[in-house]
Amino acid sequence: MTRVLVLNGPNLGRLGTREPEVYGSETLADLAATCARTGADLDLEVETRQTDDEATLLGWLHEAVDSRSHVVLNPAAFTHYSYAVRDACAQVTGAGLVLVEVHLSNPAARETFRHTSVVAGVSTGTVAGFGLDGYRLALRAIAARTR
Ligand code: DQA
Repeated sequence: MTRVLVLNGPNLGRLGTREPEVYGSETLADLAATCARTGADLDLEVETRQTDDEATLLGWLHEAVDSRSHVVLNPAAFTHYSYAVRDACAQVTGAGLVLVEVHLSNPAARETFRHTSVVAGVSTGTVAGFGLDGYRLALRAIAARTR
């Protein structure tokens, strides 16, 4: 079965209470349940994780390469400045795996520092601005690409 790691970066464990007007009222558990349901519908083996720690996120991206798992990644604030995360993402797509960058909000419509994604250039594609639906769309894109 096609494996997908849904990886979430810093502060996304606070979903539900963190700026709900920007990120919505659903929690990380809701996000994980949405991904599990969508994965089951699409015949994907999906595992959702979240970390505030850059090294942990790098390790998970390396694991994706080694286990040949596709990736849905919300790098959160790392999006805007982490060349280490970018370089790890480049290993994922460089290995022929699909990596979809996801954002709940639309960073392009927010503060200027959010307009830069250092990850976008090494991602297969990006979905932003559709809340939890963005994760569903990303999983659909992976299912379509890997059939
Ligand atoms: C985010 C957007 C980022 O700018 C921000 O730092 C986040 C969440 C999003 O999902 O909209 O933490 O990635």
